[in-house]
Amino acid sequence: MLSYQHSYHAGNHADVLKHIILGDIVAGMQSKASPLFLFDAFASRGVYDLTGVEALKNREFDSGIGRLWPLRHEQLPAGVDRWFQLIASKNPDDGFARLPGSTALLASMLRDSDRLAACDLHPQEFEGLRNSFRSSRKLALHKRDAFEALGALLPPKEKRGLVFLDPSYENKGEYKIVASAVEAAYARFRAGVYVIWYPLLPAGRHQDLLHALKRSGILKILRVELDCGASFPDMQMSGSGLLIINPPWHAMDAMQESLRWISDHLPSDNGRDHFEWLVAE
Ligand SMILES: C[S@@+](CC[C@H](N)C(=O)[O-])C[C@H]1O[C@@H](n2cnc3c(N)ncnc32)[C@H](O)[C@@H]1O
Repeated sequence: MLSYQHSYHAGNHADVLKHIILGDIVAGMQSKASPLFLFDAFASRGVYDLTGVEALKNREFDSGIGRLWPLRHEQLPAGVDRWFQLIASKNPDDGFARLPGSTALLASMLRDSDRLAACDLHPQEFEGLRNSFRSSRKLALHKRDAFEALGALLPPKEKRGLVFLDPSYENKGEYKIVASAVEAAYARFRAGVYVIWYPLLPAGRHQDLLHALKRSGILKILRVELDCGASFPDMQMSGSGLLIINPPWHAMDAMQESLRWISDHLPSDNGRDHFEWLVAE
């Protein structure tokens, strides 16, 4: 069942964390010249319209990008600045109503030798992807199941790559399914950088994902998490995190600076953040 649509949540505190840190990771990987394969396995529509009925229903963007956008001309960490510049490039009117999602972010960072594949199974989301991007030698759009695509597209011919897993966790079993899928993908492509997003919800099911990956035998798993505590009483999700397998060393400082900045500027009522190894080397 695919009922989730990211447009209802676009630009919220979780998007802030995920897109800024994702950019830092890609930039860190690009400190080497060799070609990269980027795989956005749960892409959604690529660019979100924050003036649309979906986004306006709960206006989650108000406490995310809406809160941070006025700070765009200040001295900023590189990752935050990169994200603001990308948003500005999509909004000639100096606003943020056309908000780039993960596929737009990754597409904007492609070098000539890099490749991006973006996948979504939801008919409307895939249509959105097709409207936002043109397939090319560098960019492939797939209307297919992400879990099946992981098997089909990995390992990439470039031998260096990033896999971004941003599922909608529509059922409670999905945390374990994601962990199993990552284990299987890692077995075929051990050099890959895997970035797995998870929400912090009252049921605490993200622990299933963390426990499963801890037990998997996979080493070098970094946990970057921001819990905004009781700051968003109208939203179920108090925060979110990213598990990053094989994080590029060149991105470590940048990610830490980005997390600090985000944590300092988003509301935090008894919140906390983590930048630590879930599993060390
Ligand atoms: C959280 S949204 C992705 C947001 C996007 N990554 C971003 O940052 O802008 C999750 C997306 O995954 C898609 N999806 C869910 N299950 C899927 C599956 N098994 N295969 C492919 N896409 C799936 C949904 O349609 C939804 O668009």
